[in-house]
Amino acid sequence: MKEITKKKIRITDTTLRDAHQSLWATRMRTDDILKIASEIDDAGFYSLECWGGATFDVCMRFLRENPWERLRQIKKACPKTPLQMLLRGQNILGYKHYPDDIVERFVALACENGMDIFRVFDALNDPRNLEVAIASVKKYGGHAQGTICYTTSPVHTVENYIKLAKEQEAMGIDSLAIKDMAGILTPGAARELVTALVKALPEMPIQIHSHMTSGMASAMYMAGAEAGAGCVDCAISTMSSFSSQPPTESIVSILESEGFDTGLDQVKLAKINNYFKELKKKRQPASSSKVEAVDAGVLVHAIPGGMISNLRSQLAQQDALDRLDEVLAELPNARADLGYPPLVTPTSQIVGVQSVLNVLSGNRYSMVTDETKKYAAGYYGRTPAPIDPKLRKKLCGGLKAIDCRPADLLKPGLAAAADELPPNTIQAEEDILSYALFPEVALGYFKWRNTDPAKREPIPADVEEASQATVAAAPVAGAAKASASAEAKVDGTPVLAPLNGTFYRSDAPGKPNMASDGATVKAGDAVCVVEAMKLFNPIKAPAGGKITFVAEHGKAVTKGQVVAVIA
Ligand code: CO
Repeated sequence: MKEITKKKIRITDTTLRDAHQSLWATRMRTDDILKIASEIDDAGFYSLECWGGATFDVCMRFLRENPWERLRQIKKACPKTPLQMLLRGQNILGYKHYPDDIVERFVALACENGMDIFRVFDALNDPRNLEVAIASVKKYGGHAQGTICYTTSPVHTVENYIKLAKEQEAMGIDSLAIKDMAGILTPGAARELVTALVKALPEMPIQIHSHMTSGMASAMYMAGAEAGAGCVDCAISTMSSFSSQPPTESIVSILESEGFDTGLDQVKLAKINNYFKELKKKRQPASSSKVEAVDAGVLVHAIPGGMISNLRSQLAQQDALDRLDEVLAELPNARADLGYPPLVTPTSQIVGVQSVLNVLSGNRYSMVTDETKKYAAGYYGRTPAPIDPKLRKKLCGGLKAIDCRPADLLKPGLAAAADELPPNTIQAEEDILSYALFPEVALGYFKWRNTDPAKREPIPADVEEASQATVAAAPVAGAAKASASAEAKVDGTPVLAPLNGTFYRSDAPGKPNMASDGATVKAGDAVCVVEAMKLFNPIKAPAGGKITFVAEHGKAVTKGQVVAVIA
């Protein structure tokens, strides 16, 4: 009798991270996870992606949870299956470069608290931004998975991807992920890329991560598996599709029909899915019911899942939702101008917000965020293609351009972060890392945690859920408030908020004010900041004179609101 050996393929479950980040604005709670954790642990997945990405920030900001505690609890509930996280290289989980000592300590504590597999990526595919994170994962005993952020452009060729993979191989990665965050990898391109990778790096396990945004990912996984990928990322069916991963149950059936052994059992998967079907009633945001199952537009604009919903909510914040089509048309142009970065956090924010500003201002690059400025000057790493020198100079706006690894310019930051924390704020060393990553958010969470439970403000996510039913009346009230404040009478030249957002008098939390109240400023001086769409937009003095601030630091402002007066 002919012996049949089944080809093995494994599946990583993303339900506890990417899936709810893509579909539920990352609002799954630790309690939601723990109720089903042992069934997921029992199912036979290769790994459980359950931490990193946006979960860390959202835990503290909206759920009033300690992300480190979430990790410990998942580890305790899932002792059998390796836990996996998404780590943005030198950006850790934030939007900027952190000093090396913070990257290393973060990885060390993540390992200590139960993390096993670290998928390390850099938005620009700049290997220099992966070095320290990968070395730290190796040092503390984790599995370092390197990453190719997949995108298409004249400079993103199979040849360049192989070069990138070899650079990461030399850093000691244990496996390699092809990260197709936009769901634009076609089956044909996947077959070509995986075949080339297997040939160039025969010992390297290849994993594929994609999103169903354009509807291609299931077919692409099949092509990738046939070409030699050893693992694919899926989410349980209720948490799958749309801008999330392909459904586990369907992929298992597809792969098994082609002679692959996934090691997963449909009955166990069905039980897990039933749980999420119920949970969805409580946790799915009302807005997501309006999303199309397949967005074929992605095949044209190549914008990742999550990014479009971000653009939508950013435009809604600016009362300009009707301009979404213009922004989607502007985005590929802005991306080309900026050297074809793959669109993934943080470049997706930078290019996305810059596109919004290019459209709303009516004059491209007349408003440039601090982040775009730094990006153009090289502070995020090397752009895949060079930026036109004339445009680069304009975008830099006087900021010195650099060529080195951005983090080489940073002083160690861990001790300084610990010193900055007010006394009696923290409970463990992990809190210092939370603060180093997200200072304002962490302080807000620590304050909430240190408040007598009877006197605590309600959990923001609870308020959101309660208000979903009454959402209809809100925008009208907001608009009325905006126009009222715009009409406020002032003596002198008003400084207006150019966008809806949060007003800050300093350019970074904990930094001194950009202009002190009553100081004399020159026209064109950056005097304050409006944080909108998660990015800091410096506000320049429209005239010279003595400045008096009207808006309060850290409070919401609306477009056109007077934030200061110069007389
Ligand atoms: Co993803």
